[in-house]
Formats: sequence, structure tokens, C-alpha cells
Amino acid sequence: MRSPENIKFEPFKIKMVEPIPHPDPLSAACCQFRKETLKEAHYNMFNIPGRDITIDLLTDSGTGAMSQEQWSAMLVGDESYAQAVSFDRFIKSVRECTGDEFNVIPTHQGRAAENILFHVLNAMAQDATEKRIILKRRVLINSFFDTTAANVAMHGKLTGTDHDNAPEHLNVNSPSYLERKSSPTAWKRYIHDLKHSVLIKENQFVVDQTKPEQFEHGVFGGNIDLDALEVILSDPGKRKDVLLVMLTTTNNTGGGLPVSMANIRAVREMVDKYSVDDPIWFEGTPPLMFFLDACRFAENAFFIQQHEPGYTDKRIINIAREMFSYVDGCTMSAKKDGMANIGGYIACRSDTLQQRCWEHMVEIEGFFTYGGLAGRDLEASAVDIREGVDDERVAQRVRQVHQLWRWLKEAGVPVKEPCGGHGVFLKGREFWTVNGKQLIADEDLPGHTLAIELYKRYGVRACEIGTIMFGDYDPDTGKPSQVAPDEDYVRLAVPRRVYTDTHLKYVAASLAEMYEQREKLVVSGMKFIYRSPALPHFLSHFEPIV
Ligand code: F0G
Repeated sequence: MRSPENIKFEPFKIKMVEPIPHPDPLSAACCQFRKETLKEAHYNMFNIPGRDITIDLLTDSGTGAMSQEQWSAMLVGDESYAQAVSFDRFIKSVRECTGDEFNVIPTHQGRAAENILFHVLNAMAQDATEKRIILKRRVLINSFFDTTAANVAMHGKLTGTDHDNAPEHLNVNSPSYLERKSSPTAWKRYIHDLKHSVLIKENQFVVDQTKPEQFEHGVFGGNIDLDALEVILSDPGKRKDVLLVMLTTTNNTGGGLPVSMANIRAVREMVDKYSVDDPIWFEGTPPLMFFLDACRFAENAFFIQQHEPGYTDKRIINIAREMFSYVDGCTMSAKKDGMANIGGYIACRSDTLQQRCWEHMVEIEGFFTYGGLAGRDLEASAVDIREGVDDERVAQRVRQVHQLWRWLKEAGVPVKEPCGGHGVFLKGREFWTVNGKQLIADEDLPGHTLAIELYKRYGVRACEIGTIMFGDYDPDTGKPSQVAPDEDYVRLAVPRRVYTDTHLKYVAASLAEMYEQREKLVVSGMKFIYRSPALPHFLSHFEPIV
């Protein structure tokens, strides 16, 4: 037994409980039932009904347990259409983290914030160039989340033409652009080219993920490669193409690894140094803006507190404020570190940008004081945003994720190292490797196969973050033509305050058993039956390879 001072317990107790579906997941009947369920779900994890999942680690987004303060705040939600009191409380709360100088625009979730921001920035860029050429279309980032990439891609091209560089079928005036409206093949090809030709790969600069031993202070594997960024920013010809510089904190698709304060500060300095004498391309905004994708800013701040010299004695709220002090704005999904079940926002310093966002927002999300949310959602979010930066809570949350990681590592299950903030990333390819021989080929989706087997055998839902989400494919055959460059990851995302350590122990034991038996399992991979072009992991259909 460990001594009491070495035992860190949850800083909450449980008042309301929800039954776990199928609490006897290993029974023969349950296993058979899940086989049928998978078939009906076209082997897509997003199609499996929640009632048929024993432990759900699909996402940490909107899946957390709310506090009694949040539930009680919901009862005082002001449902006035415009200028509700709940909006004032929401803004006040956001500004406690970001600083008072930020304008705050609520949205119903993170991708709505991305949609509005990139629509507006591209429209502004188009206005600025008198509707001739979109000069500013590159968004430079450590790594995109897939919805961010899709929003950049869609708005970056749909709002205008790039006569210099656009392939014929991406040009809004070309016959094939018009044809895509009526032809599914042309549509698929169009989306494919949007995502893969100009906007995505050349613009992501996360530090080398194959060399974790070189991560700053051993953990900041979400950092942007400053040298690579400088190559673009220091060149006026390349810089004029840049619409925005962004950092995803923590870097979800790269293992949930954090970005150091030094890295955030260095990006700010670099943006200022090179753009200071650039012409203002839109009145009321700086020549080049730097934003955070702030979904998991509190977890990021926790890593800074734990690992970056000079921050040990600082509270997470103060570290967060410093992070925001270096940026011109952020997009945020309050479903993550906001601790809410729904919600999000854009925060920005520029009044002009806020005005433009408002104008687009009224068309698609609602009036700018509610942003697609009910007054009660704004209230729950307002409490969340404060609770989400509570030092004890963030520490417990990250500690629980790291506990799961340690159990898996001890059992020899291949996991990404070091461990990030919101989940454990399993290495799909390595999982299926025995004595140097990979049992499931890259194009047969080893990561997805692992997620399918984990659900089928143990009732645990996880999600591939690899070839399905980011790999390239042949739009004519639908087969992967290029697989995810890194490991074919499977993410075990841990919802906040939902599962106990015992639940996670079951997950670790299940994976350990499956790993040990992997050679004997009769599994030969998965194939696409239908590949959804824009966001493939949400909507594609699969079948096992027999
Ligand atoms: N940015 C990041 C880094 C994200 O992780 C997400 C969502 C979004 C933006 C979009 O936010 O879902 O509120 O629209 N990530 C979830 C996940 C879906 O499972 O990681 P949203």
C-alpha cells in the first residue's frame, strides 16, 4: 500500500450516475451482438449506437460530466433572443482566461468558429485584392485538426479564383468547376484536390515526430518547427500568400502533445519581425495575424506549468493568460477544455474582424450574442470556462490519461511517446507487427482494424487518427494511394470526469490481452466500401478483408 501523501485522488465526488451499457461485455452473447452491430454500422465507429458501447473513448469532445455549478447555472439561463444576460456572463468568463482586450463571439462549437473565421478572412482577402487574385490563402500551422483543414480548404478556394496557380478544375470559372455540381465524381475529385494539392501538406510544420528525444524539455512535441516557418515568413514573396499563422494547443492529431510558451512567444516575435513593414491588406487588422486553435489550452498550460522552467509556481489561469497575450485571436471548442457539452467561440483583438464575423454569423449561426446556443448553454459554458482552468481538475485529468498510458506501456502495447493531454495514441502499425513482420499492410488500415477488433472483442470504442483521416487516396478507386505518414494511430480519448480508473484498467487489460494474442487472431485488415471525400472518418463505409 502506498503512503497517503503519494495517493492523488479525484477532486470531486459523484452525485448522479448513468448505467454502463452492457456491463458484462465479455459474454458470448455480447460479443455476437457487437459483431452484428459492426456490420450494420458499416464498420464505421461513428455509426455505432451509444447504447451498444461499454466504454466510449471515441472523443473527449462534449462528453465530459458537468458540475453541480454548471447544472444550477443552466436554470438561470436568459433566453432573450438578443443581448441576454447569459451572454454578458459568458464573455466575462472567457475574458478571465484570454484577457479583457479580446472581442468574444460565441458559436455552437469549434468548427462553426472555424467556418466563420475562414469564410470571413478569405472574403476580406478577396476584397483586398479587388476580386482579382487570392494572394492570401495559406494558413501555416503546427498540425491541422481535420475540421480546421476542411474549413481552410473549402473557404480558401470557394471564395474566388487563383488565376496564377489553380488547376483548371479548381478555378471557379472553369467548366469542370461548374460540372462538379452535377457530377459526384467531379465533386469527389474537387474536394480531394482542395485538401491535398495546395493547402494542407505544405503548410503543416510540427517538429519531427520521429525524434521525440529532441522535443523541447522532452514533452513539447506539438511545437512548430521554427526554422521551417522562418523559411516562409522571411521571404516576402512567400509571405504575401499567408493568410494566417496558427498553433493548435495541444496538438490533437499529433498525439495531443503540447506547445511550449517559448514556441508561442517565438512565433509571435517572428510574425512581428517579418510583417512589421508589410502593407496593411485590410484596414483594422494587422498585416499578418497569429491565432491559437485553443480547444485544449488548459491542458497545454498544465504541461507548461509542469515542464517549462519559470512556470512551476504559476497557476494555469495565469499561464493561459500569457499564452493568449501573444496572439491576435483564437478559435475554441468549449466542448474540450471548456468542459461544456456544447459551445465554442472566436476571440479576436480586431474590431474590424469582429464586425465581419458578426455579419456572416447572423446568416448561419444566429445573432451574435447567442451564436447558435441557448442561454442555458452559455451559462453552463460560462461556469465551465472557469472550472476548466482549475489547477487540481486539470492535473487530475491529465494524470488519469497518463495512468492509462503507463498501464499500456507496462504491458508492452505500442503507444506514442511521450503521452499527451487528452488521450493515449496507440501505434496501429506496430500493434500488428510480430518479429519485424507487419501482419496487416498499411493500405489495409491497421489502425482502423485495431479499433474494430477492440470494439468487437471488448466493447470499447476508439477512433483511428491515421490513414482514414489524413492519408491520401485515389479518388477514382477509393483505395488508399498514400497512407498516413506517421504511425496509423488509434486514439483512446478520455472524457473528463466520466470514467473511473477501474474502467480504464479494463481498457488497458483488454488491449494487453489483444496485443498478446494478435498473432493468433484471424484478422486481415479493412477496406473502404465508400470513402467520404471531405471528412472521411465521419462518414465512410468499410468491410473486413476476407
Ligand atoms: N480543433 C481541434 C484541435 C479539435 O480537436 C477539434 C475537435 C476541433 C477543432 C473542432 O471542434 O468538434 O467543437 O467542432 N475535436 C474533436 C475530437 C471532434 O474528437 O478530437 P468541434
